Amino acid sequence: MKKYHVPTLIVHKRDGGVLTDAEIRFLVAGFTKGEVSEAQMSAFAMAVYFSGMTAAETASLTYAMLESGERMIHPAGHPSIVDKHSTGGIGDKVSLILAPLVACCDCWIPMVSGRGLGITGGTLDKLESIPGFRVNLSLAEAQEQLQRLGVVMMGQTEQFCPADKKLYALRDVTGTVPSIPLITASIMSKKLAESLDRLVLDVKYGSGAFMKTREQAVVLAEAMMAVGREMGVEVTTEINPMSEPLGHAVGNALEVIESWETIQGRGPIDLVTCIMSQTEKITKVVNSEQIKKIQSGQVKRMFESLIAAQGGDPSQLDSLAKIHQAPLIREVKSQASGVVVALDAGIIGQAALELGAGRSLASDPVDPRVGFDQLIKTNASIKSGDVIARIHARNEADASAAERAVFAALQLA
Ligand code: URA
Repeated sequence: MKKYHVPTLIVHKRDGGVLTDAEIRFLVAGFTKGEVSEAQMSAFAMAVYFSGMTAAETASLTYAMLESGERMIHPAGHPSIVDKHSTGGIGDKVSLILAPLVACCDCWIPMVSGRGLGITGGTLDKLESIPGFRVNLSLAEAQEQLQRLGVVMMGQTEQFCPADKKLYALRDVTGTVPSIPLITASIMSKKLAESLDRLVLDVKYGSGAFMKTREQAVVLAEAMMAVGREMGVEVTTEINPMSEPLGHAVGNALEVIESWETIQGRGPIDLVTCIMSQTEKITKVVNSEQIKKIQSGQVKRMFESLIAAQGGDPSQLDSLAKIHQAPLIREVKSQASGVVVALDAGIIGQAALELGAGRSLASDPVDPRVGFDQLIKTNASIKSGDVIARIHARNEADASAAERAVFAALQLA
């Protein structure tokens, strides 16, 4: 591989230049091997954030990241291999329910996800609140489990999407997440490495998403679809608002608890609607059939098998609230009566991060116990004194800050 002077490549991108395929591959390969430093890659990510990338550069970045690791190989005659990915939201726990549901629909789902990113929660952090659950699988383990169970939920590893593993963690703590080329390459490199037949992308927009407007979300969706098309994957997209949290819970263990309820047929309507619509797009199984699979307990059993296969103890799912009980749980009561017209997802996401659900350094652990549940939904009619949220916090000062955030997020008419 031809060598390039890395600071010159960063300066070129910073000043609005276009990099060649070879230059981008050199940067990504060097970063993966540790020859391009984290400081240099952070500066490069910030340069991309401000200067953007052409479609050709975005494709080069995606392929370079894809080629940083190995790809899944599926046996001849396999069922449809499908997946979904969200561009990130607040309370977005769709993957936890959708994955076992899809595995009950005669498809295989090798779901590779990420950790929390910016103010948005990550599937891996949520799953790790299930005691013992391992997201760090080898490719051989993942492929064996996929063939046996039809579902695997794992993270990027040294072997699988290592460039995204490193860059994802760096972007999370350097303010370089909301960039269309960086999001496209991050998501599509993981999804292409899964060797999929079909993919649905849930592209979020609004205060709790990286794309603030619907127009930006459409541009991101098109960028990801273009990369998917080129690689022969059937990609469909949904453009969904992220103006209020999805469901009633935000925070790692709290979201697993809500997911477990949903898997047992007791999910909030906005969450269930999202899950069913995306499942239908990739499996072609209609909603009424999906509901039967949930109500019969088939999806519950699949989720339990998935947890057991990855080292977790499914019998602890009913005890998660106790296992991860925060030192302090505070009810927030409305100070006025009216109809809820907004509960700003961006404000709630930022508050959850500050309660300890997210990171400020890549090496930070997340606190599985903290966040919100019983969050009120828009269109609800409430009276003064009604509970509009519960805060799970580590101490009084954190709880008070989160309470102020709930009032700032709430709009009544
Ligand atoms: N999800 C990802 O995997 N990467 C991003 O950059 C954003 C959401």
